[in-house]
Amino acid sequence: MVHSTATLAWLALATGSAAQFGIKHTQYDTSPPVYPSPNIKGVGGWEAALEKAKAFVAHLSLEEKAEMVTGTPGPCVGNIAPIPRLNFSGLCLQDGPLAIRQAVYASVFPAQLSVAASWDRALTRQRGIQMAEEFKGKGAHIALGPVVGPLGRSPYGGRNWEGFSPDSYLSGVLVEETVTGIQSAGVQACTKHYIGNEQEIQRNPSTVNGTTVEAISSNIDDKTMHETYLWPFANAVKAGTASLMCSYNRINGSYGCQNSKALNGLLKEELGFQGYVMSDWTATHSGVASIEAGLDMNMPGGIPFTSANPSYWGGNLTTAVSNGTLAIERVDDMILRVMTPYYFLNQDTNYPVVDSSTAPLSFFPRANWVHEFELGPLVDVRAGHAQIIREVGAAGTVLLKNVNNTLPLKEPQNIGVFGNDAADYTVGQYSLNIASGIAAGNYDIGTLAVGGGSGTGRFTYIVSPLDAIKARGHSYGALVQYITDNSVISNGGLAGLAPSPPDVCMVFLKSWASEGDDRSSLIAEWNSTVVVENTAAVCPNTIVVLHGAAPNVLPWKDNANVTAILVAHMPGQESGNSLVDILWGNVNPSGKLPYTIANQESDYGRNLLNSTELLESTDPDAWQDDFTEGNLIDYKELDDQNKSVAYEFGFGLSYTTFELSNFQFEATMSNASRVPSASAQVQPGGNVELWEVIATVSATVSNTGTVSGAAIPQLYVAFPAEAGEGLMVRSLRGFEKVTVAPNATATVQFPLARRDLSYWDVSTQAWTLPSSAISAFVGFSSRDLKLNGQINI
Ligand SMILES: *[C@@H]1O[C@H](CO)[C@@H](O)[C@H](O)[C@H]1NC(C)=O
Ligand SMILES: *[C@@H]1O[C@H](CO)[C@@H](O)[C@H](O)[C@H]1NC(C)=O
Ligand SMILES: *[C@@H]1O[C@H](CO)[C@@H](O)[C@H](O)[C@H]1NC(C)=O
Ligand SMILES: *[C@@H]1O[C@H](CO)[C@@H](O)[C@H](O)[C@H]1NC(C)=O
Ligand SMILES: *[C@@H]1O[C@H](CO)[C@@H](O)[C@H](O)[C@H]1NC(C)=O
Ligand SMILES: *[C@@H]1O[C@H](CO)[C@@H](O)[C@H](O)[C@H]1NC(C)=O
Ligand SMILES: *[C@@H]1O[C@H](CO)[C@@H](O)[C@H](O)[C@H]1NC(C)=O
Ligand SMILES: *[C@@H]1O[C@H](CO)[C@@H](O)[C@H](O)[C@H]1NC(C)=O
Ligand SMILES: *[C@@H]1O[C@H](CO)[C@@H](O)[C@H](O)[C@H]1NC(C)=O
Ligand SMILES: *[C@@H]1O[C@H](CO)[C@@H](O)[C@H](O)[C@H]1NC(C)=O
Ligand SMILES: *[C@@H]1O[C@H](CO)[C@@H](O)[C@H](O)[C@H]1NC(C)=O
Ligand SMILES: *[C@@H]1O[C@H](CO)[C@@H](O)[C@H](O)[C@H]1NC(C)=O
Repeated sequence: MVHSTATLAWLALATGSAAQFGIKHTQYDTSPPVYPSPNIKGVGGWEAALEKAKAFVAHLSLEEKAEMVTGTPGPCVGNIAPIPRLNFSGLCLQDGPLAIRQAVYASVFPAQLSVAASWDRALTRQRGIQMAEEFKGKGAHIALGPVVGPLGRSPYGGRNWEGFSPDSYLSGVLVEETVTGIQSAGVQACTKHYIGNEQEIQRNPSTVNGTTVEAISSNIDDKTMHETYLWPFANAVKAGTASLMCSYNRINGSYGCQNSKALNGLLKEELGFQGYVMSDWTATHSGVASIEAGLDMNMPGGIPFTSANPSYWGGNLTTAVSNGTLAIERVDDMILRVMTPYYFLNQDTNYPVVDSSTAPLSFFPRANWVHEFELGPLVDVRAGHAQIIREVGAAGTVLLKNVNNTLPLKEPQNIGVFGNDAADYTVGQYSLNIASGIAAGNYDIGTLAVGGGSGTGRFTYIVSPLDAIKARGHSYGALVQYITDNSVISNGGLAGLAPSPPDVCMVFLKSWASEGDDRSSLIAEWNSTVVVENTAAVCPNTIVVLHGAAPNVLPWKDNANVTAILVAHMPGQESGNSLVDILWGNVNPSGKLPYTIANQESDYGRNLLNSTELLESTDPDAWQDDFTEGNLIDYKELDDQNKSVAYEFGFGLSYTTFELSNFQFEATMSNASRVPSASAQVQPGGNVELWEVIATVSATVSNTGTVSGAAIPQLYVAFPAEAGEGLMVRSLRGFEKVTVAPNATATVQFPLARRDLSYWDVSTQAWTLPSSAISAFVGFSSRDLKLNGQINI
């Protein structure tokens, strides 16, 4: 959603109209119409809740029906009005994917980027549960997360860190765990942003010289849609996500929140989604058209947020029903979709009311509220969540280089800490805005623990790296020398150290990223290369730690004095503690890269549409982004081009060493049909047979080092040529994190569902098992493939 100059942006938007798309730019000019919007059936376990929702809808007047699907000003970032007559206290929707943002005395968890680097299913689920406990404690019914769009097509994508990984399989597994975790705590998940929301630039319409220029169109072919971008959304739907948020961008020329192929076709029909689709904030560009295309809830409702609250929906929806333009059955289905997960999660009984401290943080001025909301006392919802935050922060830290076992540290007596990212905050604890000033995240001195925009969090406290290192070093009497001003380090300031050189120098770098813009460089900011080189010049034992957005290229990685590199991502409020756990070896690093670090920026396909010419164009349809690379993003692209890389997808070192042996394959279903039975039930996630495990690969992992540690063996598959054009060299299809003691072994299993071993056949519109064998590889990264075998099903 939008922020900072939010109201202005929304006002600008409100003046735009849904334009006609007459100009044919590409082969993807149109999105096929899919109507009518499928009705909820309650399949997959929501049957009883659907009956309760039906009873509720039966009591509603037409005006109330319109209000049930149109947001209204209130204490939360999105609000559905209460209906006191029916004991319905309304719905409170709150950002975001790593914290309840609009709150005080709440925790800031690690970003999904860190979660992805942990490759840890159990921690992922735990994080989801504990985060949801905080939403519930503050009276929020719906958490606006997790994110699997953007997936991370472009390494420059400004919101990639809000999601997991450009690998659809890894994202799919982790989104399923997150949705399951959130909803097991009684809170509705809203998986977002659906779909093709892969860049920030021109994500919304703009006005150039008085002309409305439409938002970027992500033009995605059907095979790529299924095999890459839709894939993790299918996992989220299978996990029962209560809602999905449609995205700002267009898809094949049609806005994400009124694209009938995406909403009615792919989501509600093919994936059997039973919940509701809500718009991203101000992403609704029409009334009846968006409703019939499958949009179920308009957020945040009317623009601007005055008491009149005009909206394409609201009063217009009432009129459209009254004048016969819109069928009441469709409106009823929208409300059933909204209320069924509400009853399924028992949100009708004893749900906490909205914390009163929320209201002053809301961007809706109280004077604009048109409904009263019940508010409760201020509650501190942090409980014991710091522990899991610290664990995930460490689990999502990746060790890339460790020459001569410089890590873990023993008890160095003279420690140097350098760089602006090491320090405590200096300009506030809240990074909502992309612009400069208070609450801007792209400040100079101060650590970067999460990114900016609606996906940020408001820190109750932050443990900076410097504070945690000082505490640890001072505990055994060490000297800790530090300089956190990069311009001082860049201009000879290290000459002031005494004694010099320190036994170990740690350099902290950071890369900002926020909703609202894309990254313009993949090199850490604030003179990072000079800062590292100047430190290494005086310190032969230099450890570099990176925080923030990823991937980054590392121009100094082969500097002989850089003895260790840690990518610590976005660890949240326990940042320093998570890091110290790794540095001193209390935690043996097991994080793996959920993306590739290339040798140089130009090795990646940029996959970002941007130019002065485009920005200045008054052609309403100028922004056409053809996803011509298909499935070949991140490691799939670099493998396809056979390029050497700095550190490959799936890579990460440990303080111990592991070996792999004993590749085993077992088909658990004999003579499986090539496609799932067309008569099998469609439940949330799609045809149920797609999720049946039809084969298993297993392998044995041994700890050949001297300390206990967690290994993450990974299974990659290579499909035969019949799987179609643009074939991946290899694709991830399994991983398992397993802790192994020295000299011990463990067996890891990779269960393979039908979907995992199928390709999307565009002509038959079916997930299809190849008739010939699939090659399989088990290893410790996408390029460290120790074992191989065949999958014959
Ligand atoms: C987009 O267009 C491509 C090419 O015509 C087609 O394969 C695909 O199904 C379309 N997708 C949507 C969502 O319109
Ligand atoms: C509302 O709640 C009150 C008190 O619990 C109860 O007496 C009443 O029947 C409820 N009304 C409805 C419509 O559920
Ligand atoms: C926009 O307006 C300015 C001032 O009238 C004009 O110089 C410029 O050429 C216009 N640009 C476009 C793309 O029409
Ligand atoms: C109906 O929609 C139009 C376009 O957004 C808006 O100007 C008007 O105020 C709306 N009417 C109501 C009653 O919300
Ligand atoms: C019915 O109402 C809708 C919403 O106000 C409006 O857009 C539409 O033009 C109306 N249709 C007729 C036939 O009056
Ligand atoms: C690593 O150890 C080797 C062998 O002891 C030594 O030659 C080399 O200089 C060491 N490298 C660093 C960076 O300390
Ligand atoms: C960046 O480093 C150069 C030295 O290479 C230095 O001259 C310059 O002042 C530094 N810039 C900042 C903003 O610190
Ligand atoms: C987009 O292009 C404009 C104009 O060339 C440039 O100023 C801006 O930095 C670019 N943005 C990114 C993220 O590259
Ligand atoms: C590495 O450290 C040594 C000893 O301080 C120094 O002489 C050398 O120049 C450094 N190398 C680099 C590349 O900075
Ligand atoms: C990839 O590159 C390596 C080394 O440059 C070469 O040996 C190999 O044959 C190449 N493989 C393909 C498929 O091009
Ligand atoms: C495998 O299935 C096919 C089609 O379902 C059938 O024709 C064939 O006889 C089966 N083969 C075996 C060995 O069961
Ligand atoms: C592992 O095995 C080696 C060789 O048998 C032995 O020397 C070592 O003590 C063992 N380590 C542990 C932790 O048991």
